[in-house]
Amino acid sequence: MSNKVSTPEFGPLHGVRVVFSALEIAGPFPAQMMAEWGAEVIWIEHTKYPDTIRVMKNYRELARRNLHSLSIDIFSEEGKKAFLKLMETTDIFIESSKGPAFKRRGMTDELLWEHNKSLVIVHLSGYGQYGEDQYINLPSYDHIAQAFSGYLVQNGDGDQPVPAFPYSGDYISGFMVLSSALAALHNAKRTGEGESVDVAMYEALLRVSHYYMIDYFNNGTLYPRTTKGKDPTQVGCGVYRCNDGCITMSWVGGPQIRRLLEVLDHTHILGTDEFPEGIPGIRADSSQGQILEDKLDAFFGEKTIDETLELLESMTIAATRVLTIPELESHPQYIARENIVEWDTLSGGKCKGSNIVPKFTKNPGQIWRSTPSRGMDTASILSDLGYSDQEIHALAEVGAVKLAD
Ligand code: COA
Repeated sequence: MSNKVSTPEFGPLHGVRVVFSALEIAGPFPAQMMAEWGAEVIWIEHTKYPDTIRVMKNYRELARRNLHSLSIDIFSEEGKKAFLKLMETTDIFIESSKGPAFKRRGMTDELLWEHNKSLVIVHLSGYGQYGEDQYINLPSYDHIAQAFSGYLVQNGDGDQPVPAFPYSGDYISGFMVLSSALAALHNAKRTGEGESVDVAMYEALLRVSHYYMIDYFNNGTLYPRTTKGKDPTQVGCGVYRCNDGCITMSWVGGPQIRRLLEVLDHTHILGTDEFPEGIPGIRADSSQGQILEDKLDAFFGEKTIDETLELLESMTIAATRVLTIPELESHPQYIARENIVEWDTLSGGKCKGSNIVPKFTKNPGQIWRSTPSRGMDTASILSDLGYSDQEIHALAEVGAVKLAD
C-alpha cells in the first residue's frame, strides 16, 4: 500500500527535513519556500479540519506546491506517538497556534527535544508564547498583526487607515520564521543543540515598522499617514500621475537631487544651510517640501508616462510605470526571467503563477509537484517511520490519521 516518501534532489536545502502544522499563509509560506529550495517538507493537516487555504482554488496550487501531505491528529494518543517519531527525523518544525497551545497540551519543547535534541522548533503566534494573559491566547491574522504593531496605522490615504494588501503582515511574519529557522538550523548543525524560536506576528511587523515611527520614540515626531501614495517623509518618493497613467519614483541620491532640481529650475536652494550641495534627499517637512511636491505634480501631470520615464532614466532616478496585472505576463522583463510559469496540478489541470525565486545560480530551486490532496502521503510517511500497513490502517480506523481524501 505505502510507497516511500520521495523528494527529488535539488536546491541549497537538499537533505533538510521540515515539518509544519499551520494554516493559511504566515506559517506555511516559509516552509513552502524551503520546499522550493529543495527541502523535504511535510504539511500536517488536522484529520477533521482541512487547512483553510484549500478553499482558494488557484492560490492553494502555488501555496502548497512541492509538499508532502500528512493528515494526523497530533494530540490524540496514537497520533502523538507517530508525531513524536516523525520529530526524530525532522530538522525544523514550524507550528502556528493561538499562543502557547502546544505547551498547554503537554507537547513542550523539552518533550520534542527528548526525541530529537537538535530539533529547531519555531512557534508562530499572533502575540507570542508569553506576555499578557489577555493577549497571548488570542487568534490573529494579517490585519490584526498589522493593527497591533503600528504598521497599519501608517498605511492608507489621508484619514483612512488601510492594511497593506495582499497580506503583507503574513508574508513579513513568514520571512521572519524562514530566516530565524535557518539561523537556528545553522547553529544546531554547529553545536548539535536545537532551538525554540518564538515568532509573534506583531513583533515581526514592529521590527519593520520603524522607518518613520522611530522619530516619534526619539523626538515625539508623528508624520501624517501617506496621502495619494506619497512618502510622508521624503519629497519625490511615491506615486505621480502623468497625463496617461501613474508612475512611481524615488528621488534620492545627491547627483539625482541636483539633476531634477535643474530640470525644475529650482537649483537656487542648493548650497544653503538647509539644503547643502550634495544633499541626498529633501525632507517633506522642510521649507521646500510642499513647494517641490506641487512642482513635481504639475510637471509630471503634463507629460506622458513614456516621456517621464525617459527623462527620469536619463538622470538615473529610479522610476517605473505602475504595472497592471494583465501587463505583467507579457512584459519583456518577465518573459526574459521566466517569472510566470505553468505547472501541472495533481488533479490533472494546470496552474499558472510565480516561478521559483530567488534564482540560486549553482543550486536552483524546482517545482516538482503541485499541491497534494489531504492525507495523500500519510501512508508513505508513516511507512518510512516504521509503521506496517496494518498499523497504518489501525491508526486510520481510530481517527488518529487520515489516509488520502
Ligand atoms: N492535530 C490536532 N489538533 C490540531 C491539529 C492537528 N493536526 N491542527 C490544529 N489543531 C488544533 C489546534 O491546536 C487548535 O486547538 P485549540 O483551539 O485548543 O488551541 C484547534 O485545532 C484549531 O486550530 P487552530 O489552528 O488554532 O485554528 P483556529 O481557527 O482556532 O485559529 C489561527 C487559526 C490561524 C487564527 C490561529 O492558529 C493563530 O492565531 N495562529 C497564529 C497566527 C497565524 O499563523 N495566523 C494566520 C496567519 S495567515
